[in-house]
Amino acid sequence: MGIVEIKALKKSYISGSEELPVLKGVDFSLEKGEIALITGESGSGKSTFLNILGGLDRAESGSIVVDGQSIEELREESLSVYRKEKIGFIFQFHYLMKDFNTLENVFLPLYMGGMSKKQAESEARRYLDIIGLSHRLLHYPSQLSGGERQRAAVARALINDPSLVLADEPTGNLDEKNSRMIEELLFKLVKDFGKTLILVTHDTSLASRGDYHLHLEGGSFKNL
Ligand SMILES: Nc1ncnc2c1ncn2[C@@H]1O[C@H](COP(=O)(O)OP(=O)(O)OP(=O)(O)O)[C@@H](O)[C@H]1O
Ligand SMILES: [Mg+2]
Repeated sequence: MGIVEIKALKKSYISGSEELPVLKGVDFSLEKGEIALITGESGSGKSTFLNILGGLDRAESGSIVVDGQSIEELREESLSVYRKEKIGFIFQFHYLMKDFNTLENVFLPLYMGGMSKKQAESEARRYLDIIGLSHRLLHYPSQLSGGERQRAAVARALINDPSLVLADEPTGNLDEKNSRMIEELLFKLVKDFGKTLILVTHDTSLASRGDYHLHLEGGSFKNL
């Protein structure tokens, strides 16, 4: 059984009196430690797919099993636990909390999860060191560069040791050099820590770097 098993996933949005089918019966599976890259035109449903998988949105029908857990049946409270414990989300925007410094932004998920402050801090320092941000621990998000902010967001997403990392165009707001750095970092962390990654990107040059390259078109995946 893979870490992600999706069968016949359907999702439509209702807008006014119209129904807009976005995912029309998607099948997808991924083993632990694998990387899947997803491309597709704007509006093809890439974010919709990741949001459903990450428990931020609900499927209409189909079955979704992540790390042995069926998520379509989970109630809201359990879904929130699922998000915290199993999923590391990285978005195009960093969503760091502006009133907290780098170290705090990264250690808070662990601290909120019940770890002692001292231990959470030392764990956050370890991740920030790996990610190359040890020299910016006390900077607030507004005092970081775009690339540094996104690196902090990567550290925050990984610190809970999630079963599945979901990255939705994480380099969409960055220049070429910073994009490469974040991508390399993601690939490295996934390999070094045995993580499983689904990465949505517009950069087709990355395609060969993953175990799978899926193209979302007309509501389903084409395997490239
Ligand atoms: N809450 C919603 N209500 C109605 N329609 C929605 C909603 N969310 C998304 N859509 C529509 O669903 C389609 C898929 O959206 P989605 O955000 O998944 O696309 P995407 O592939 O991530 O695009 P992009 O590359 O621009 O980020 C779009 O046509 C969008 O307009
Ligand atoms: Mg999107």
